[in-house]
Amino acid sequence: MIEPVSLRQPRIIEFGAGKRSTVSQHLEGCRRALVVCDAAVRPHVDDLASQIEASVSATEWITDVSPEPPIPEVKRLRRQAGSFDPDVVIGIGGGSAIDLAKVLAVLVSGSQEVEGIVGSDNVAARTPRLIALPTTAGTGSEVTPIAVLTDVEARLKKGVVSTHLIPDVAIVDPELTISAPASVTASTGLDALTHCVEAFTNVHAHPAVDVYAESGIRLIGANVVEAVRNGENMHSRTAMSLGSLYGGLCLGPVNTAAVHALAYPLGGTFKVAHGMANSMLLPYVMEFNSATAAARYARIAKALGVVSPEDTDVEAAAAAATAEVRRLARECGLPASLSELGVTEADLDTMAEAAVQVTRLLNNNPRPIGVSDAREIYRRALEGAA
Ligand SMILES: NC(=O)c1ccc[n+]([C@@H]2O[C@H](COP(=O)([O-])OP(=O)(O)OC[C@H]3O[C@@H](n4cnc5c(N)ncnc54)[C@H](O)[C@@H]3O)[C@@H](O)[C@H]2O)c1
Ligand SMILES: [Fe+2]
Repeated sequence: MIEPVSLRQPRIIEFGAGKRSTVSQHLEGCRRALVVCDAAVRPHVDDLASQIEASVSATEWITDVSPEPPIPEVKRLRRQAGSFDPDVVIGIGGGSAIDLAKVLAVLVSGSQEVEGIVGSDNVAARTPRLIALPTTAGTGSEVTPIAVLTDVEARLKKGVVSTHLIPDVAIVDPELTISAPASVTASTGLDALTHCVEAFTNVHAHPAVDVYAESGIRLIGANVVEAVRNGENMHSRTAMSLGSLYGGLCLGPVNTAAVHALAYPLGGTFKVAHGMANSMLLPYVMEFNSATAAARYARIAKALGVVSPEDTDVEAAAAAATAEVRRLARECGLPASLSELGVTEADLDTMAEAAVQVTRLLNNNPRPIGVSDAREIYRRALEGAA
């Protein structure tokens, strides 16, 4: 029996090399553009900047984008954005810039404070048009109803989830990812893989979403190492952008699970980049979950190409999927243990207590995770796989 599902996506998704040139047509009827663009990206997007500026009568740039935007910074930028009064907000960058653009677009629409929109379905409305152009492959934020902020006081990441956050137009141009350094390509690529894996093994997994998840796993597994080693390879960059887009399309209807929940304290407390935290934890959570969802992990092994399509040994295939994810992270030069990220045994209790608060995501995990389970997953990740 196929369960009912809601797929909420941007009205238009432009995909492919050179597609950023369509931005002018998507700005038709707009006069005042607020552009949130990552400072490291800005020097690489002169052509896009000229097109935007030629298409509207006034443009305001926000380039001081912090990773995982801290709430006090969002408040400050909201004042700047509010006095500009945009009728379109454009996010250009990785997930941090796009999430900031999404949040500012809803905050300038009315009188809500940022604290009031945190959580699920708390956004009242969005007035400006919202256009997203990702420069990483990546979060898939250009198509998701999610934005992630940092609560500086609680030292935790906080999610905002609302249909109003889904951009009207997503322009996924893989040429925009060429300037991303190898380390960013690696961590963001493993993040995209994690989105697909967590959607595919999710308690809410659905055939309408599995098609994206399985294809994304195939694309990313086959291309992430080459994209990291040879960032100019357009075939790999394009495959990664598509895999990332597919990962993003999984996040609205099904979303992520324990890897992302356990990564929250690493981002909030240790300032570990989102993708790096996920890539570190992914194989350990896969090991933990395999006991419950081996058949799904076996299909992941097939999508990753490490097990033949005819193979029937489900447990062995699930183990092969975990081993392949470890290999991909290693080949991409990502750290292999939490201790390399500055975490010590003394931190694990606090991290486990914080992670189990992220019930929004943990409830999606195929195997229930309590505090002692979370601590044990962290403990295994502390020293890395033998
Ligand atoms: N909204 C969602 O659905 C969603 C999903 C997953 C993650 N996230 C959030 O997204 C954020 C992470 O996004 P990210 O992984 O894309 O990283 P990011 O946006 O923080 O960017 C990482 C680094 O790469 C640089 N960079 C990005 N693109 C570049 C390019 N083309 N050239 C040169 N430098 C470039 C940035 O300057 C930054 O230093 C986190 O806050 C995470 O929580 C959001
Ligand atoms: Fe993610």
